[in-house]
Amino acid sequence: RPIHILNGPNLNRLGLREPDIYGQDTLDDIEARCAAKLGRRGELVFRQTNSEGDLVTFIHEAEDAGADVIINAGAYTHTSVAVMDALKMVSGRVIELHLSNTHRREAFRHQSYVSLVADGVIMGFGAQGYLLAIEALIAD
Ligand code: DQA
Repeated sequence: RPIHILNGPNLNRLGLREPDIYGQDTLDDIEARCAAKLGRRGELVFRQTNSEGDLVTFIHEAEDAGADVIINAGAYTHTSVAVMDALKMVSGRVIELHLSNTHRREAFRHQSYVSLVADGVIMGFGAQGYLLAIEALIAD
C-alpha cells in the first residue's frame, strides 16, 4: 500500500513555530527523513494544508489511492467531526500522529476526534514520531 502522510494547520511553520514544543526541524526536513526511511519499500505522498476542507479532500484522495494514512491533523484533531468522518472511510490503516504529547498540555488538547477512528496513536516523540509511524506500517 502507498503511505499518505497528511499534515494539518500551522505545520508548514515547523522550525519557526514554538520550537521548544515542536522542535527545530522544518516540515521539509521531516518529509526528507520520511522519504529516506521508506526508501524503495513503497510510495510516499506527503502533504500539508491549513484548510480543514482540503484536509478532508486529502483523506478522500488517500482512500482513492488505497493508501494507509499517517495524519497529524494539528488543531483540527480537537475540533473536526469532518476530518473524523473522512477518516472513517479509509480502508487502510490510520495512524494519528502528534509531535508533542498532547495529554501533557492544555485540557482542550486532551480530546481527539482522530483517536476515535485511528488504529494507533504516536505522540510526544517530535519529528521522530513520523519515522516510528512509518516503521509501524512497514513492519511485517
Ligand atoms: C499537534 C498538537 C496539536 O494540539 C496542535 O494544535 C498542533 C500540533 C502536534 O503535532 O503536537 O498544531 O498536532
